[in-house]
Amino acid sequence: MAASDRVCGDRSANEPRPAPPCHILPLRPAVSRGARDERRAEWRRLWRLWPYLRAHTLRVSIAVVFLIAAKGASVLLPIALGRIVDSLDRSEHSAAVVLPLGLLLAYGALRLVSVLFGQIRDLVFGRVTEHSMHRIALGVFTHLHALDLDFHLSRRTGGLSRDIERGLGGIRFLLRFMLFNILPTALEIVLVAAILFYHYSVWFAVIVVTSVVAYVGVTATLTEWRTTHVRESNRLDTRANTKAVDALLNYETVKYFGNEAFEAAHYDRALAGWADAMARARRSLGLLNTLQALVIAAAVTAMMILAGERVVAGTMTLGDLTMVNAYMLQIFLPLNALGFVYRQLKKALADTARMFALLEVEPSVRDRPDAVALDADRPAIAFTDVMFRYGPARPILQGASLAIGPGEKVAVVGASGAGKSTLARLLFRFYDPDDGAIVINGRDIRDYTIASLRAAIGVVPQDTVLFNDTIGYNIAYGAAETATAADIETAAELASLSDFIARLPEGYDTLVGERGLKLSGGEKQRIAIARAMIKNPAILVFDEATSSLDSEAESAINGALAHLAADHTTLVIAHRLSTVVDADRIAVMEDGRIIEQGTHTALLAADGLYARMWQRQRAEAA
Ligand SMILES: Nc1ncnc2c1ncn2[C@@H]1O[C@H](COP(=O)(O)OP(=O)(O)O)[C@@H](O)[C@H]1O
Ligand SMILES: [Mg+2]
Repeated sequence: MAASDRVCGDRSANEPRPAPPCHILPLRPAVSRGARDERRAEWRRLWRLWPYLRAHTLRVSIAVVFLIAAKGASVLLPIALGRIVDSLDRSEHSAAVVLPLGLLLAYGALRLVSVLFGQIRDLVFGRVTEHSMHRIALGVFTHLHALDLDFHLSRRTGGLSRDIERGLGGIRFLLRFMLFNILPTALEIVLVAAILFYHYSVWFAVIVVTSVVAYVGVTATLTEWRTTHVRESNRLDTRANTKAVDALLNYETVKYFGNEAFEAAHYDRALAGWADAMARARRSLGLLNTLQALVIAAAVTAMMILAGERVVAGTMTLGDLTMVNAYMLQIFLPLNALGFVYRQLKKALADTARMFALLEVEPSVRDRPDAVALDADRPAIAFTDVMFRYGPARPILQGASLAIGPGEKVAVVGASGAGKSTLARLLFRFYDPDDGAIVINGRDIRDYTIASLRAAIGVVPQDTVLFNDTIGYNIAYGAAETATAADIETAAELASLSDFIARLPEGYDTLVGERGLKLSGGEKQRIAIARAMIKNPAILVFDEATSSLDSEAESAINGALAHLAADHTTLVIAHRLSTVVDADRIAVMEDGRIIEQGTHTALLAADGLYARMWQRQRAEAA
């Protein structure tokens, strides 16, 4: 497989330029690609919400019915008000005025209905919003787990969680407001314009339509321009947050180097940038609000002049004037909100952009369509001429070949940085080789489903990170669904953990702290070993699994490991050669190649690199 196959996404297929490698893939929304592309992208993002609405057709339809009923009632309100004024107007009647009780009651009923139906609509629709957010959040979570190791190594967790949080907030907004604010407001404006046109003159309708168009135009144009400021403040907000989270995660390192002030200054600069961007955003908001108020004032004045003239001329009653005025107020109230909604809408769309961009990143390590399940008891593994590089700059594996027979224990030794852990990562398919192949039981590992391949491999990694939970939870994690208390104790026993745990007042319920920071390196490693034992996979990979242990603990564990390795195919990566003398074969790695292999005695006899390493370590031990 060529190096460019490891590129993220399928964009590379029709792109002449080589696409960037995964770990520098930018996750920016399309900002500078022109307004039209941007708008099209926004529509696409809105459209992505449709399936979630469609999943709840009944609830959505009921909500829409109540919405239309509520709007209908509120459009009738000014008419009722006008009639009431007319029937109370002494100048219209020569006789004494009677109380229009029926009209007054109808007025009250309409008001109640318009509010009540709105409430019912919210009740019915609420579940749709939560359900959709639930599904989207879960989708993002699963997708993030499907993405490559490289993606996660180069992402900042703080920024990532902010993007997701904001994206979900944006979706909640879009679902609610598209349906319950923009659509009903548009409906109301059309109804009012029609009523005014039908009852009085085309001029009233013209004023309504013109002012609405001007209002929306001003809002849209200014908001468009404002969005850059809002986006900039979002970006700086994320950056400041990432900085803070990173500094807190590295709490110990910060202390070691006395860099509290340095970190604070960094954070200070990030926050200052954010505050400036916020100020710019606020100023632009002030301008927008002023212009909107100008449009409203002009429209209401024009309308009242028009109506006033007609009352003077006798073609309109006082009731009509009241009604027109009520309509104007009623339109501009939601329209006022429309300005807010439009701004929020743009913000929501910008917020969701980063989250949807996350969903569009495709993992480069994927199942083939015809992948089969790996099901092997004592599998044979063969690395043949494996070539691999993480980035374009530096080749790491340069034709590594290594065979591990069924049930064999093979050790890989070599200097730090030789590429030993990389072999294990390729076997686990965190990455695929650029060239050459890794074969299990005669088939390329890319022919197996990733899930079955990974289920068959138990890894004790070089650096163990634990969940911020109890020791028991972290051990049971190896078989999260099935481990019993007895399994956990057996595994702890095998990993020489039981004495340590017995001394803890809380025993297995002891919390390990974030990433396991409350435990020593050796204790963490032993938990990782216990965890791999509980998984009980066909293939075991120990990546310097005992490097943090002292010799005594190491030899205690090695007994257990030897016992475990006896009926498993085992790859041991070791730094201390004394731990692998009993291996069926030892391979010496240098610069991404296996340069020697054989049993301990054979390698000593060959008097090569291994013999020299052995002598050096013996001398150090003495
Ligand atoms: N994700 C990565 N991106 C880029 N380079 C990496 C990455 N992981 C490891 N490397 C580099 O690859 C080389 C081999 O790493 P590794 O296989 O971990 O060595 P070791 O033999 O010590 O286990 C090292 O020089 C390391 O810096
Ligand atoms: Mg390593």
